[in-house]
Amino acid sequence: MNIKCGTDIIEVERIKKAIEKLGDKFLNEVYTKNEIQYCKSKNIKKFEHYAARFAAKEAIFKAISPLLHNKYDLTWLDMEILNNEEGRPYVILNKEKINEKVEIDISLSHIKDYAIANCIVQM
Ligand SMILES: CC(C)(COP(=O)(O)OP(=O)(O)OC[C@H]1O[C@@H](n2cnc3c(N)ncnc32)[C@H](O)[C@@H]1OP(=O)(O)O)[C@@H](O)C(=O)NCCC(=O)NCCS
Repeated sequence: MNIKCGTDIIEVERIKKAIEKLGDKFLNEVYTKNEIQYCKSKNIKKFEHYAARFAAKEAIFKAISPLLHNKYDLTWLDMEILNNEEGRPYVILNKEKINEKVEIDISLSHIKDYAIANCIVQM
C-alpha cells in the first residue's frame, strides 16, 4: 500500500483577480460545471469556495503525482471536488487518466483572505 499526502494554501484575492480578469476562460479551464454551480450558489462568499477548490486541486496534484506515470497529462478538470448532503467534500477523479485503485480524501477550510486544502491519497 502506498500513501501520500498533499497540502496547499492560497490567497482568495488571487483567485478573485483571475476570475475578474479572465472570466469564463479561467473558470472553464479550472472548474467543472458542478463546481462552478456550487461556488456561484455561495453568492458573496463564492471566491472563498473557488479558492478552496483551487487549493484542493493543487493539494491533490502534490499527493497523487508521485503515484502516476503520466502526471504531466493531468488537467484541472481531471479532478472534481463535490460535497455530500452534509457538506463534506469528496473528489471524483478522471478514471481514464488516474488508476481506479486510487482512494482519496480531502478537507477544506477558508476564511476571507485564505483557503487551504489537505488531502490523503492511497493506492
Ligand atoms: C461544517 C463545519 C465544520 C465547517 O466549518 P467552518 O469553520 O464553518 O468553515 P471552514 O471554512 O473551516 O470549512 C468549510 C468547508 O468545510 C467542509 N465541510 C462542510 N461540511 C463538512 C462536514 N460535514 N464534514 C467535513 N467537511 C465539511 C466543506 O468543504 C466546506 O467548504 P466548501 O463549502 O467550500 O466545500 C462547521 O460549520 C460545523 O458544523 N461545525 C460543527 C462543529 C461542532 O459541532 N463542534 C463541536 C464538536 S467538535
